[in-house]
Amino acid sequence: MKYKKISLITGGGGFFAFQHALAMSEMNNEIVLTDINKKKLIDIQKKLLRKNIKVYIFKADISKEKDVIKLKNFLLKKFGQIDILINNASIDHVPNKKNKTFKNLKLKSWNKEIEVGLTGTFLCSKIFGSIMQKQKKGVILNISSDLSIIAPDQRIYSHLKFEKPITYSVIKHGIVGLTKYLAAYWGKNNVRVNCISPGGIENKQNKTFIKKIKKLIPLGRMARSNEYIGVIKFLCSNQSSYMTGQNIIIDGGRSII
Ligand SMILES: NC(=O)c1ccc[n+]([C@@H]2O[C@H](COP(=O)([O-])OP(=O)(O)OC[C@H]3O[C@@H](n4cnc5c(N)ncnc54)[C@H](O)[C@@H]3O)[C@@H](O)[C@H]2O)c1
Repeated sequence: MKYKKISLITGGGGFFAFQHALAMSEMNNEIVLTDINKKKLIDIQKKLLRKNIKVYIFKADISKEKDVIKLKNFLLKKFGQIDILINNASIDHVPNKKNKTFKNLKLKSWNKEIEVGLTGTFLCSKIFGSIMQKQKKGVILNISSDLSIIAPDQRIYSHLKFEKPITYSVIKHGIVGLTKYLAAYWGKNNVRVNCISPGGIENKQNKTFIKKIKKLIPLGRMARSNEYIGVIKFLCSNQSSYMTGQNIIIDGGRSII
């Protein structure tokens, strides 16, 4: 049997995770999806199976260390190794009617969002990256956002009576810092850590929102869902073997103007 790499995707029941799974499948890797939501995991597993892609699913809350340790035990028992970790899970915003502006952002929401986006990424990196350190090989890919290098333009949300929360900026900038720290820390152990900062993917959003955001993007459109597969494969494979600690911005040019 051909040697397979073991890849783990957090937030594995979500929209973008499907594309990460396609990328891992094109690389002939074993795929493990983890998510706090079991139903979403089962749905995506069925959807991938219809494409003949078999994935393992494991329910875990990545902000809880005991859950991440259970996931580690499952992976080590099943495969004995971990080669690729895609830190993808996040919550955009805790929905709450009174929570829609900076002034009204509840401390509870701040804590919850940071707990998933940053603490969860820290815990998964610590626990799975430490296995990679022992193996003397491994790749971590962190999923940030174009909002890791620019501030949200609140005008594109104004008609929705919604503000992009400060937590999103803090998490996405923080992930770039975490990437650089770990890349420097584990470089000598042949563990590479990189990050992508994708622009928004068009996904049946509000029409006015789409019209407004397009005007901010030199390519004049949001991303198509499959447009990140190439960069994910590149960063998770040996094609990028001399690359670590980088934040690759793929935003249709939005951040240059
Ligand atoms: N979709 C886009 O246009 C876009 C653009 C740029 C960046 N991103 C980033 O890509 C990543 C994925 O985005 P998405 O659009 O797929 O979001 P999504 O909401 O569809 O998926 C996120 C997944 O994370 C899971 N999750 C939430 N809390 C969790 C926890 N505590 N433990 C484990 N899983 C948990 C959710 O259940 C969900 O399935 C995010 O980091 C997001 O910021 C997305």
